[in-house]
Amino acid sequence: MSGEKESRGAAAGFYTCHEQPEERALTVKGTIPSYVDGVLYRTGPGRFEVDKRAISHWFDGKGLNHRFSISAKDQTVKYRSRESCAVQIEKERKLGRSSAVTFAQPPDPCQRLFSKFFVAFKTALETGSKREPSDVNVNVVLNTGSKSLTAQTDANLLQRLDPVTLEPLEATTYASMLPELNGPLSAAHGATMDGTTYNYVLALGPRPKYTLFHFASDDARGARVLATITDAPPAYLHSLAATAKHVVLTIWQADYKHYGLDILWQGNCLDGLGKWDPKRRTLHYVFDRATGQRVARVQSDAFFAFHHINAFDDDEGSSIVLDLATYADTEVLNTLRVANMRAFDAATAPEPRYTRVRLPLKGGHINEATVSVTAINIELPCVHPAHQWRAARYAYGVHRTDAPASRTMFVDAIVRLDMETRETRVWRQEGQVPGEPIFVPGPSGREDDGALLTVVLDVASQSSRLVILDAASLEPVASADLATVFPNGFHGVFQS
Ligand SMILES: [Fe+2]
Repeated sequence: MSGEKESRGAAAGFYTCHEQPEERALTVKGTIPSYVDGVLYRTGPGRFEVDKRAISHWFDGKGLNHRFSISAKDQTVKYRSRESCAVQIEKERKLGRSSAVTFAQPPDPCQRLFSKFFVAFKTALETGSKREPSDVNVNVVLNTGSKSLTAQTDANLLQRLDPVTLEPLEATTYASMLPELNGPLSAAHGATMDGTTYNYVLALGPRPKYTLFHFASDDARGARVLATITDAPPAYLHSLAATAKHVVLTIWQADYKHYGLDILWQGNCLDGLGKWDPKRRTLHYVFDRATGQRVARVQSDAFFAFHHINAFDDDEGSSIVLDLATYADTEVLNTLRVANMRAFDAATAPEPRYTRVRLPLKGGHINEATVSVTAINIELPCVHPAHQWRAARYAYGVHRTDAPASRTMFVDAIVRLDMETRETRVWRQEGQVPGEPIFVPGPSGREDDGALLTVVLDVASQSSRLVILDAASLEPVASADLATVFPNGFHGVFQS
């Protein structure tokens, strides 16, 4: 067994990790800061095969949700995890294939029938059915409202979870909040500003339509349409931005061929994307947050991204600054296939670059934005939540150094980036693979006062631990040992 573990090296987190539904206490070292007192939820893939059938893309791994209950008073950390789609796994076992439209999983040839996929979407849209609440794989982002814990993904699918046991309670869609929100795609990362969350739903077909909407973040019932876009290609957009006055939907070149019909034909989103054209422009649609009026349509050089880091109104409202982690093209979507991540080579993998885009709001009919791509790599970014969508200075994220020993690691460090001076501070320890850092604000409210929570794989011992870093110094202050491999996941949220 130990030989098998060793052979997985830095890629151990890209192999199946099983749920641990019984809560257990972890061994804590160091001192947990007094304000890091609450629950850290994380989500991501846990299972990369169903029986002998391998799952080919990182984004399609079967969902596994994690809960770290952290007590600063008692200096304890308790942990449990639970699969989010047991019903779907059982169904796939019986079918011998995937039962839904996926991100990148190739379907069986016999599934290449439009009618099958319409049925798949229809099934997904109707899974308000409480009898099979887990009939979807929802594992990208977790949100904690005042009433529930919700998992969501880039499809128009939401899964309510029990915040203590992590049991799936109900699967639903934004259409349950407002019937117009019935397209199949949405952003896993809505933008939350002043207690209101903004997102979009994308309807495919000959006249693709983005419907931007908003709702009170702690009450998912009162959704309202903000605006619609009918003059843009249908694209894979994982996040959007808000500012004090605006909502910005940046439509980069990741559009689905043939109005989205290729998703239905291919049975997955990745193979439905068009070929990259470096000359194609990225489009930025800017809307007034209060009225929904379209303020500007701006274009810029081509880039691809998953994540906005931040955005804010600048120059007394005459421009908007977007901070993103960008890629030169969509090749990264292929890199993130499971086989590629298990054989990761930093020498050839695309790098996410810290990029600042400035959108002028005044000028001609279609304004031209400036795109400043830096050499700084950062992914899975965060900022102090009270400073996000304002002129924030510090961003945190996972990072890859050029250390030769890290060549097989898809990341090997946590970075703090000063977006004003572009200075960076890095926390790296030999043979350690960190996951997304979650910022927990410190008592002063100062932007750099806080802690970063990250789950780190120790390659040599093939076990992971939750590490708490001081956000200003990036020095570790405490850790909690899981004694098992923690799967490489996507995102988490801390609830105090
Ligand atoms: Fe994400």
